[in-house]
Formats: sequence, C-alpha cells, structure tokens
Amino acid sequence: MNIKIFNTPGEIAEAVSHRLLSAVKKGSQVNRKFNLAVSGGSTPKLLFNRLSEEPFQQGIPWEFLHIFWVDERCVPPGDDESNYGMTKKILLDKVNIPAENIHRIRGEEDPSDEVHRYAEDIKMHLTVKNNLPVFDWILLGMGSDGHTASLFPNSDLIKTAGNICGTGVHPVSGQNRISLTYDIINNAAEISFLVTGKDKAETLDQIRNKTPGSSKYPAAKINPVWGTLEWLIDKEIEINPK
Ligand code: 6PG
Repeated sequence: MNIKIFNTPGEIAEAVSHRLLSAVKKGSQVNRKFNLAVSGGSTPKLLFNRLSEEPFQQGIPWEFLHIFWVDERCVPPGDDESNYGMTKKILLDKVNIPAENIHRIRGEEDPSDEVHRYAEDIKMHLTVKNNLPVFDWILLGMGSDGHTASLFPNSDLIKTAGNICGTGVHPVSGQNRISLTYDIINNAAEISFLVTGKDKAETLDQIRNKTPGSSKYPAAKINPVWGTLEWLIDKEIEINPK
C-alpha cells in the first residue's frame, strides 16, 4: 500500500494543491484539459479552502480544469448536505473557473434519471480506456465504516448507468445518493485517498494489513486497473506503523 504520512491535515491540503497546480499547468501548455473528481464530506474542505488562496487562485489555469464529483447526496444544491454546494461555497465561487467546467451531480433531480444525465456528461468529456471513461485524478475520502464515495459496505448501487455511476442509499440515514461505480474509479489515471482523524485509524489499519474481513470495506475494493493509488494520511491516524 502506497501511504504518505503528513504531520497535519493542512500539509495534505498544501501538497495536493501544489500537485494540482502543476498538473493543470502542464496540461494547459499542450492545450489539454484536466478532469478531476472530488469527494464531499468534511476532509476536502481544507483543500478547497487552500485552493481558493494564492498561489493557486491566480496560478491554476482554471479554464483547463474540469471538476466532477465522485458522489452526491440527493438534496438541492443550496442544502447544507450538498457536496456541490459545499465546494461552490468554499472554492468555486472564489476562483475563475468557467461555469461549463463544473460538472455537478444534480441532487435535486430524480436520481434514476440523473444517473443517466451525469453518465452522459462524463462520457462527453473524458477520454476512454478499457471501454470506460478515464478521470485524470480522483480524490476520495473514507468513512470510519470503510465506505468511499457513496459505496457502502454490503450494499450495491441500485440503478447504474453505463457502469459509470449509479443510485444508492445511505444505510443509516436512508438518504438517496448518486455515486461513481467501482469500475470507473478503478479506471482512473490517479487515485488519492485523503484520510485524516483518529476515528478512521482502525479501519485503515485493517485495510492496510488485509486482515480477514477487511475486504468487505468498499475502500479496500479501490484497486486501479492501470493507474496509481496512494493514501495521504495524517500522523493522528497512523496508529500502527508498518
Ligand atoms: C460523501 C462522501 C464520502 C466521504 C466520506 C468521508 O458525500 O459523504 O463523498 O464518501 O468522502 O464519508 O467523509 P469525511 O471527510 O466527512 O470524513
């Protein structure tokens, strides 16, 4: 397992911001757009906040960055639970990204229609490898129950569209979700888990040591077909260094 340990969550945000800056810049020099998929929840907030400041706010050629979401809660964009709403407030409203580069999942629509619209949007913008669209970089989070995106333990996506995304339900709250599938996540060029906080240490430790039963965790099923996978964690979570 490729794990990089940082002193603080802030250092993870700093490192990811710099990598994004150089990747988007590099692509822009050959007129290539960069397709990024981000997660919701609380962990990416530090990153989004950092990206809204210098040197990133002015330094990233935002017109070359296309942003997608790995999942969405089926709520309107103005709802506090909306992953898009959170990203908009902390980042998108503060940088010069063209509206057409923002590929939100419409949480206010009927999820079984929205999965098809979102899948089409993804297909229209991404290149294809192994018959599936390819994200340049996917930033994932992990819950203490081992879920990632809206892929929860012991529950499959219900209606899928082209094996790209599907509808799901949060096992505890019953909230409807839309999520990318394992297959499209695993077909990305780069996948980074951003995982911080003690409450996730035990789950991470099980996944890392492949303990019996850990394969039930959705996060353990993220194994890129041809790209790279890394775990960016902070010291707090590092309970059992190997
Ligand atoms: C979501 C997510 C989800 C998240 C994890 C970690 O919409 O909830 O995309 O998979 O990444 O739950 O969440 P935290 O960062 O809040 O711990």
